[in-house]
Amino acid sequence: GRVLYITRHGESMYNLENRIGGNPSLSNRGQQYAQKLGQYVNKNLKFDKVWTSELSRTLETSAHIKDIEKKRIMKPELNEIMSGIFDDLSYEEFKDQSPIEYKERELNKLTYRYPEGESYLDVCSRIEPVMSEMDTGENLLVICHQAVIRCILARLQRTPAIEIPYIKVPLHSLLKITYLNGQNTVEVIPLNV
Ligand code: F6P
Repeated sequence: GRVLYITRHGESMYNLENRIGGNPSLSNRGQQYAQKLGQYVNKNLKFDKVWTSELSRTLETSAHIKDIEKKRIMKPELNEIMSGIFDDLSYEEFKDQSPIEYKERELNKLTYRYPEGESYLDVCSRIEPVMSEMDTGENLLVICHQAVIRCILARLQRTPAIEIPYIKVPLHSLLKITYLNGQNTVEVIPLNV
């Protein structure tokens, strides 16, 4: 059956600070993941295309893959959930500055739309135009972000919508998604750094 690979970007400076959104670079550990991912891919896999978002952290994560300049396609549809007026804040600062909004998001994480930003449902519709190309694509690696990967996995595995914002997507792991006998199964390949 069809095999698709997906990974989050390596750990970013904002992951370290527990910050939302923004356009941070990778941390040292994140850069080590980029190197390890490159080594693993160059040794074991053969991708014709590597999709990234437009954000630095996914581009940096792709950097060590052989011939990446020829293979890389940046897709704005894969950018992380837009956190609008709370972009760049830590979750702590978000909570302190706007406790009501914060609570609202906790209670309705699927439908909560950041002011001037997006909800999980918005992200799920935004990725829809690239979903069919992704789903049928061969030799494709997708490097993107936590919220976007949750929406992609939910779409591929028919996860109930209400569970989408809580799907666990580990850092520094490659997800191998195989479509066989009418269903997608996900294998987690940890590339520990
Ligand atoms: O890993 C950080 C991050 O990608 C943020 O940029 C983003 O806002 C967040 O994860 C999405 O996760 P959650 O919806 O659980 O806050």
